[in-house]
Amino acid sequence: MKNIVLIGMMGSGKTTLGKMLSKALKKGFVDLDQYIEDGEDMSISDIFEKYGEDHFRKLEIAYAKDLSKRKNIVIATGGGIIKSAEAIGALKNGIIIWIDRPDDMIFDSIDIEKRPLIKSDPNSFFEISRQRRPIYESLCDYRFLNDKGEESAVNNILELIRKINIDD
Ligand code: S3P
Repeated sequence: MKNIVLIGMMGSGKTTLGKMLSKALKKGFVDLDQYIEDGEDMSISDIFEKYGEDHFRKLEIAYAKDLSKRKNIVIATGGGIIKSAEAIGALKNGIIIWIDRPDDMIFDSIDIEKRPLIKSDPNSFFEISRQRRPIYESLCDYRFLNDKGEESAVNNILELIRKINIDD
């Protein structure tokens, strides 16, 4: 199976949906942020704080490239993966699915303290989302709205996967 790669804003549900999908498909699951944290033995927040965003983005590229060598996995990416053509380019050997979720729903549910990108200015979330939407749109193969509960979003994605050929 080609990898299934979930992209979308922070808090859109990539990790939760990715785990549910991998279970339903009986495939492995990797959360790219977690993969970086495990590899660096450091939290994403600490990496941002100690070394800054640019350094984090370099790590994101390296770990995305590494992950793209694997097959048969569901991958949840960090929201900013689309900032680097190199990182998303590596993962393009999989099916790219954009998990879209209304900004207000995300903003009401996320813990700002755990989001290094918007911690110092929470309202910047909306501007970041506005800037990224067209990029998610242009880079994805498919878009799914996650606004009616996780079960419903997962079922819709599974329906697609049954319809298209995802063998490599
Ligand atoms: C980021 C999103 C985070 C994480 C990092 C940067 C972003 O991942 O990679 O804090 O730029 O949107 P999630 O989308 O899993 O929260």
